[in-house]
Amino acid sequence: MITKTSLQKTLGTWLTLGVTLLWLLGVIASGVVARHEMNEVFDSALEETAQRILPLAVTDILNRENDTGNQRALALKEHDEYLTYLVRDASGKLFLQSHGADPGVFGAKPRQGFSETPTHRIYGEGAISNTLYIEVAEPIAHRREAVLETSLALLIPLIVLIPISLIGVWWVIKRSLRQVVLLQQSIEARGGGDLSPVAVNRLPEEFEPIMVSVNRLLERLRRALEAERSFTANSAHELRTPLATALAKLQRLKTETDDARVKTRAGEIEESLRTLSRLSEKLLELAKAEGGSALSETCNNLVPILQMIANDYERRAPGRLKLELPDDSVMSLLDPDAFAILARNLIENALRHGAASRPVNISLTGEGSLRVINAGEIVPPDKLVVLRNRFVRSDTQTLGSGIGLAIVEAIASGAGTSLNLRSPASGQSDGFEAEVNVVVDHTDRRA
Ligand SMILES: Nc1ncnc2c1ncn2[C@@H]1O[C@H](COP(=O)(O)OP(=O)(O)O)[C@@H](O)[C@H]1O
Ligand SMILES: [Mg+2]
Repeated sequence: MITKTSLQKTLGTWLTLGVTLLWLLGVIASGVVARHEMNEVFDSALEETAQRILPLAVTDILNRENDTGNQRALALKEHDEYLTYLVRDASGKLFLQSHGADPGVFGAKPRQGFSETPTHRIYGEGAISNTLYIEVAEPIAHRREAVLETSLALLIPLIVLIPISLIGVWWVIKRSLRQVVLLQQSIEARGGGDLSPVAVNRLPEEFEPIMVSVNRLLERLRRALEAERSFTANSAHELRTPLATALAKLQRLKTETDDARVKTRAGEIEESLRTLSRLSEKLLELAKAEGGSALSETCNNLVPILQMIANDYERRAPGRLKLELPDDSVMSLLDPDAFAILARNLIENALRHGAASRPVNISLTGEGSLRVINAGEIVPPDKLVVLRNRFVRSDTQTLGSGIGLAIVEAIASGAGTSLNLRSPASGQSDGFEAEVNVVVDHTDRRA
């Protein structure tokens, strides 16, 4: 199975991921630059501090009256020290230390210039011909914290950026695909009855060719269907006259000859010609049903039409039809001629294919449900589904062309309703039932 991907989901995910990644790279790059710049500033501050304190410390030490060894510089106020310092001589003897200084942090002997221990960055400077040295230490953690905080501040916008990017992409794609959805719906709505070109305004450029191709295809389909229908209609029409002439000539031949054998032969040929003639009539009906709309401009009462058709068949098969009509009229937009053709085909089938000794029930309800039910053998489900196709017949014992149900189907779908076939008939153990809802209203109306 091919997994379906949503454009919205794919683009949303990848664009957001891309933006996030680029942002992270940006944060890392600015972190590196910031660290470099900060180190420079901090180093310069460290150097400056050492050079500023040194003269003061030297004066302080030289002014001591007695040499009392190391002294702690007095803190004016209790505070944390970022920078601590020691003043020592070259051998490492301590003269002065800032109040928070930890001599363990510094080396055993003073060193000049910048140096680094695992925890501190130290700057040393000598004075009085390098007899006294000052060393100022700054914790490295302090610098790290500064870089980390700067980078973290750059990361915070990501929290907002990710949802904004996701929602933004989702919204933009939804907006741009709106016309594409319209196109899809408009293609979906097309069917055998409506092959007009699809037209959607402001379609994204990438989808324009799809619309053009679909329209080209629809046009070809429409032409092919039209050609097929007009061919069927024309040939059926053209066959009428020669068939009628041939039949008339045969009948004359039958009356003119005394030869019994010729008479029976002529009778057989006449039967074949009648079958041919019926087939061409059916083909014409089919072409009409498939070509035009089965709807009329005004509503018509279908009850008297069905009554008339039933009376017609009652004469041909006395006592077999059981007709059930509603008391009220049944108004429908279905074309009266189309309805008559539909009903005739269904009744004809029931009489022809149903059990000969059993009645045929024809019923029309007030809601417009037309049912024609007959007794007889059950038609297997696999046959039942294909019966409405042209030239498909279930039992070949009876006469017929196999396009009666195709005509009914064409009229029903042209009117926006459908033909339901059931075997066994509903509520019975055998038989066949054909049902069509013949009431179609304006909302069902199709072009
Ligand atoms: N009322 C019915 N009872 C039983 N079988 C039916 C009925 N109507 C149709 N059929 C089956 O469906 C087939 C197709 O019907 P149709 O298209 O009208 O063609 P035809 O009647 O010319 O054979 C028939 O040959 C028959 O086998
Ligand atoms: Mg038939």
